[in-house]
Amino acid sequence: MHVVKSAVFIKSSADAKDCPDCSVPEYAFTGRSNIGKSSLINMLTNRKNLAKASSAPGKTRLINHFLINDSWYLVDLPGYGYAKTSKKERKGFGKLIEQYLKEAANMVCLFLLIDSRHSPQPADVAFIQWLGVNQVPFVIVFTKIDKLSSQQLNKNVSRYREELHKTWETLPKIFYTSSIKRKGAEDILDFIDKTNKTLS
Ligand code: GTP
Ligand code: MG
Repeated sequence: MHVVKSAVFIKSSADAKDCPDCSVPEYAFTGRSNIGKSSLINMLTNRKNLAKASSAPGKTRLINHFLINDSWYLVDLPGYGYAKTSKKERKGFGKLIEQYLKEAANMVCLFLLIDSRHSPQPADVAFIQWLGVNQVPFVIVFTKIDKLSSQQLNKNVSRYREELHKTWETLPKIFYTSSIKRKGAEDILDFIDKTNKTLS
């Protein structure tokens, strides 16, 4: 099993051009606000406060790079569809994510977090279409699975599959996580480990 031995905060960037340029593979994480991104990052890295420590107020709108095991970057991207911000600002967040995803040469895979409790949300579906148009490699992570029964989870996931099948022939890989129950971290870390091995 892949274990996170070291997780080091490298830097926060307000512009994709300012991201650390290094030749290690990057795995980025995003999703709508409050999706459980910080909790997931902390679960993956087995740290209580890694994500929050570097994204104190004001920093959550930046791109945060963490170096894991001296071998890959975990990239904490801003969320999208943040309800409490102005339209102009919302557009801005999108811009930073879009800029990063288009420019990051070492971005291997984006982890798109989706709340498992809901049926397909327009903001998520629109973002997924954008990923397709821009050929961004991504996988889906359904979060907070402890909050619903396996029956409900299956139902919601089926709805998502149906929605995605409208435009995608092959669906991306799907992960299921609960940061509260500490579920799903191994699957994600194994996937990253295997992917890294194919690169080296
Ligand atoms: P912002 O950075 O504020 O956009 O949020 P975030 O996406 O980083 O989410 P965060 O990890 O801060 O979690 C948001 C809320 O969801 C918190 O109240 C968490 O306790 C809760 N939460 C996160 N993950 C889980 C989970 O797996 N299960 C349950 N039940 N709650 C969770
Ligand atoms: Mg957060």
